[in-house]
Amino acid sequence: HLAEITRIVSRDKNYAMRATPTGKGDEPDILIGAFNEMLRQIQQREGALQQAHDELEERVEERTAQLAAANKELEAFSYSVSHDLRAPLRGIDGFSLALLEDYAERLDDQGKEHLQRIRAATQRMGMLIDDLLNLSRMTRAEIHKERFNISTLAHSVVESLQEAHAKRRIEFRIEDGLEANADPRLLRVVLENLLGNSCKFTSKRTSARVEFGKMHRNGSTAYFVRDNGAGFDPAYADRLFGAFQRLHGATEFPGTGIGLATVQRIIHRHGGQIWAEGEVEKGAAFYFTL
Ligand SMILES: Nc1ncnc2c1ncn2[C@@H]1O[C@H](COP(=O)(O)OP(=O)(O)OP(=O)(O)O)[C@@H](O)[C@H]1O
Ligand SMILES: [Mg+2]
Repeated sequence: HLAEITRIVSRDKNYAMRATPTGKGDEPDILIGAFNEMLRQIQQREGALQQAHDELEERVEERTAQLAAANKELEAFSYSVSHDLRAPLRGIDGFSLALLEDYAERLDDQGKEHLQRIRAATQRMGMLIDDLLNLSRMTRAEIHKERFNISTLAHSVVESLQEAHAKRRIEFRIEDGLEANADPRLLRVVLENLLGNSCKFTSKRTSARVEFGKMHRNGSTAYFVRDNGAGFDPAYADRLFGAFQRLHGATEFPGTGIGLATVQRIIHRHGGQIWAEGEVEKGAAFYFTL
């Protein structure tokens, strides 16, 4: 009887079972009593464990919901702030223009120059706001994953980059036949930024080379975009992905510093990783997984 119950308990993990005492007070009876007591203790501990587990799960769920809500709120906030900033900016720009046009004869050259500077600054601020809005949009956009040929996408991005840099000779090396499981629309934004950066930061090279491919790196297969351009100090490799973070002067290489922040958000939303390697004047490489 006891052997049978032991077998069932160990098979079904049903600790609610009890062996029936013989009531004779003999050794098997004591054994059955001890066995039942053991089962009772196991049952109790299992119950406590399950309760702790349930509570933990509930707390994780609660925190996740709180985080998601906070995130959403923050996104909505940055969206509405950037949106609302546009209206006064349009006012500043518009009235500066009105002053320049309608009061030109009453302004001396220095006055006109100041107004031009106001207009240039408002236009630059407008661009920053647009970038912020774009970044916010990328975070909120729904992801529709599908399998597609990412090499074809890279070729198409390169084509428009070549048109934009018609005067330059850039050697593009695109590995063919690479597949990706991702949102193609968002991956286009990723490649436009990474390949666009490579074109930009090789602009001082007489023979610029920009590559796209896939390789084993840091224990995973990663897509990469690599160039032989200006590179950067590897000590700051993580900073590049922060919004408005730039390691190069705007006069040397134009830009607002939002591109890589956007790229990182897209990659993270796909559950992937992105990192950069580089050396000053020795080119840069950006790796991402999906
Ligand atoms: N291929 C690269 N080679 C060297 N430095 C790079 C490269 N790509 C990015 N960086 C560095 O990282 C910074 C941030 O890049 P990011 O794309 O976010 O901004 P940006 O290109 O300067 O401006 P934007 O993309 O908003 O027009 C750059 O300013 C530059 O210092
Ligand atoms: Mg960029």
